[in-house]
Amino acid sequence: MKVLVIHGPNLNLLGKRETDVYGTKSLEDIDKEIFSLASELSIDVITVQFNSEGEIVDIIQKGDFDVLIINPAAYTHTSIAIRDAIAAVDKPSIEVHLSNIYKREEFRKKSFVADVALGQISGFGPDSYLLALRAAKSILSK
Ligand code: DQA
Repeated sequence: MKVLVIHGPNLNLLGKRETDVYGTKSLEDIDKEIFSLASELSIDVITVQFNSEGEIVDIIQKGDFDVLIINPAAYTHTSIAIRDAIAAVDKPSIEVHLSNIYKREEFRKKSFVADVALGQISGFGPDSYLLALRAAKSILSK
């Protein structure tokens, strides 16, 4: 049971970046919570962060996972390449956002990933990732 978590661009700045929107936890703090829950759920998890679109496409294309959890960050609203990569690997994918993208600027309401993902979790801060991990567990247990 292998879950790949991809954090998209600028998420390496969590804890310092727009803390009113994204909170004060660093990406390292969030990854620790992900690893801790993964171990409780007996899931093998790998987390990566990339600022560039091509690297995200490359790792999705490798397909070395059973479930993909992805926060494409700003690429959510722009990247047909990431969308096509998710569609191409044809594995269950869960789209995650810390903030509720529907409560913010108009341009954030469009996700190019939403309709190739199994589902979307948006607005629960770092818990969005943990909820996604629980969803992955449930998918893998079926
Ligand atoms: C985000 C929301 C995106 O609109 C934004 O570009 C991000 C983070 C989130 O997790 O809330 O970088 O994906």
